[in-house]
This record gives sequence, C-alpha cells and structure tokens, in this order.
Amino acid sequence: MELVVMVGLQGAGKSTWVRGHLAATHAVVSKDHWPNAKRREQRQRRVVEELLAAGRDVVVDNTNASPEDRAGLIAIAHAHSARVRAVHLATPLELCLERNDRRTGRARVPLVGVLGTRNRLVPPSVEEGFDRVDVVSPS
Ligand SMILES: Nc1ncnc2c1ncn2[C@@H]1O[C@H](COP(=O)(O)OP(=O)(O)O)[C@@H](O)[C@H]1O
Ligand SMILES: [Mg+2]
Repeated sequence: MELVVMVGLQGAGKSTWVRGHLAATHAVVSKDHWPNAKRREQRQRRVVEELLAAGRDVVVDNTNASPEDRAGLIAIAHAHSARVRAVHLATPLELCLERNDRRTGRARVPLVGVLGTRNRLVPPSVEEGFDRVDVVSPS
C-alpha cells in the first residue's frame, strides 16, 4: 500500500501525470474536487485515511508546496503502515504560467496564486519522512 503526494506549481502538469501514471491503480484525492466545501483540508485528510484504512493505494493531487502541507499526509501514511512517495513536477515557473494562461474558467489560477505557491515551495526530501522522492522534468 502506498500514498503518493504530488508536489508542483499550478500548471506544472500534476493532474496530467497522475492520469497517465497512477489513475488506473490509485484512488485520486484532491481538495480541488470540492472547491466550495468548508474545511477542505480536514475533509481531504479524512478521505485519505478512509482509503488507506480500506487498503487502497492513494495519490493526493494538490500543490503540496511546503513541508507543513505534507507533514499531515506523511503522518497518516505512517499510521497506516503505507509507504509514502513524493512525485515532484519540477516544471519551471515560466512554463507553468504559460500553461495557466491557456486555461479557461476555474482552471486558470490568478498570477498571485502561482507566485504565492512558488514562494512557499520547498522540494520534497526523504528527511521529511518520504520513503522515496521522484522528480519529473517537463517533457
Ligand atoms: N507534459 C506536458 N506537455 C505539455 N502540456 C502539458 C503537459 N502536462 C500538462 N500539460 C498541460 O498543462 C496544463 C496544466 O496541466 P495539469 O496537469 O492540469 O497541471 P496541474 O495539475 O499541475 O495544475 C494543461 O493544459 C495540460 O494539458
Ligand atoms: Mg491539477
């Protein structure tokens, strides 16, 4: 059983990568799926816990930019004896902004949102508690 924590800016290609690599095997959880829900963070944690408790492999598809954002997920994985892997979509800011600009409606994030994430982003590391860290460069 494993928990995969995606890391990357808005527009980095996380959801596309998840569709291509994990969607067939892992339950995909993202608080982006509930844009209007209250307490989205707590709800996401609860859903991840329930899926791991049921023995599923899970991927959390959010920016997960800072160690603080990730610590709770790592703790949940450890509590369920699941391995926990980070997949960092290390797409340069300029390319993320270009892709973001091409999106429409809700999928397009305000510039300050992307820049705010960039400022918070710390690359994931095994020191945080990940069993493995994969870095994906843009193709
Ligand atoms: N490898 C890629 N090459 C070119 N365009 C991509 C690639 N991955 C994603 N995109 C495009 O970039 C945009 C953002 O991708 P998405 O996977 O939704 O990013 P994220 O989930 O990180 O916000 C989408 O329009 C998508 O089609
Ligand atoms: Mg996405």
